[in-house]
Amino acid sequence: MENGAVLLGGSLPVPSVQELAKKKQLKAVPSRYVRTDQDPIISDSKIALQIPVVDLERLVSGDLDMSQKFDSACREWGFFQLTNHGVRTDLLDKMMEATQEFFKMPLEEKKKFPQEAGDLEGYGQAFVVSEDQKLEWADLFYVCTLPLRYRKAHLFNKLPLNYRLALEAYSAELKTIAMKLVNSMAKCLKVDPQEMIALFEDSYQTVRTNYYPPCPEPDKVIGLAPHSDAVGLTILLQLSETPGLQVRKDGSWITAKPDPYAFIVNIGDILEIITNGNYRSIEHRAICNSEEERISIVTFLSPLMDCEFGPAPSLLANGVRAQFLRTTTANYYRGVYARELGGKSYLDTVRL
Ligand code: OGA
Ligand code: NI
Repeated sequence: MENGAVLLGGSLPVPSVQELAKKKQLKAVPSRYVRTDQDPIISDSKIALQIPVVDLERLVSGDLDMSQKFDSACREWGFFQLTNHGVRTDLLDKMMEATQEFFKMPLEEKKKFPQEAGDLEGYGQAFVVSEDQKLEWADLFYVCTLPLRYRKAHLFNKLPLNYRLALEAYSAELKTIAMKLVNSMAKCLKVDPQEMIALFEDSYQTVRTNYYPPCPEPDKVIGLAPHSDAVGLTILLQLSETPGLQVRKDGSWITAKPDPYAFIVNIGDILEIITNGNYRSIEHRAICNSEEERISIVTFLSPLMDCEFGPAPSLLANGVRAQFLRTTTANYYRGVYARELGGKSYLDTVRL
């Protein structure tokens, strides 16, 4: 962690999927992208379930119904859509436009933001750990946005100005939202708010932008393999209504139907640990389609790298047993990044 740089493990370089998808003659996907190890991408139109919706303003104002809805969404789904969150739609539009422009730049320009050896930040792909691993139908751009001292000048300062300004404003807004959510969780769980705030007020925030190009054989590939997020909290923005995100609920994959300008929030492994398993980090994945590109801007918030955490002490009163070991964010991330993305299996390594 010298000079604020956080090296957690990197990814092997693989070709840009965006370039691959541009090839007019591409009728079939190359074998490295054909997945035989995934659940089929079946339509779930018969499943009427929808991810719960939480109104942030009502939640923060102490509305009892909304608190209950929020608490049960965190327990039973690990996912919810967040409306009335107070982030201005013009900022969301600017953020999305700048992101689209970034991916529209020629490959040579995007390569000026390379993922360096041992580091996931930059333009490229994540979690490619072996040459014979199957690949995902997506490219990404990943940057640390907060705390300020962790921003990498060689990435941040080179961004087109409109993108950089949007990202700066956006990351500040998302920090505010995350603190409101963490505070509400403490209230619902009757955890001393300071125990949560201490872990998240100076939190480690990264933004991962996923670019899913259209795919000629969407049923054969996966945009993002099933995984739970290692982090504390994840806040996803997608401005188009093109579906792609699927959440595992009672064994089925439920397709999220994003409301424009709402966020989709989910609990990560670290919050499952801190809440001693009361709130759950749920498996999810992203699928592709043959018609349109899809962009998701995904903000992750976690305790700082050298921060130690475990089940919140006030949850362990009255003889409640800790379900997880204590660890640090850096150790947890290193373990996750060292392996191919796969379900929730890493959380089991710290389960008691
Ligand atoms: C992620 C993620 C889903 C999506 O980036 O961790 O789950 O729809 N993304 O892009
Ligand atoms: Ni995820």
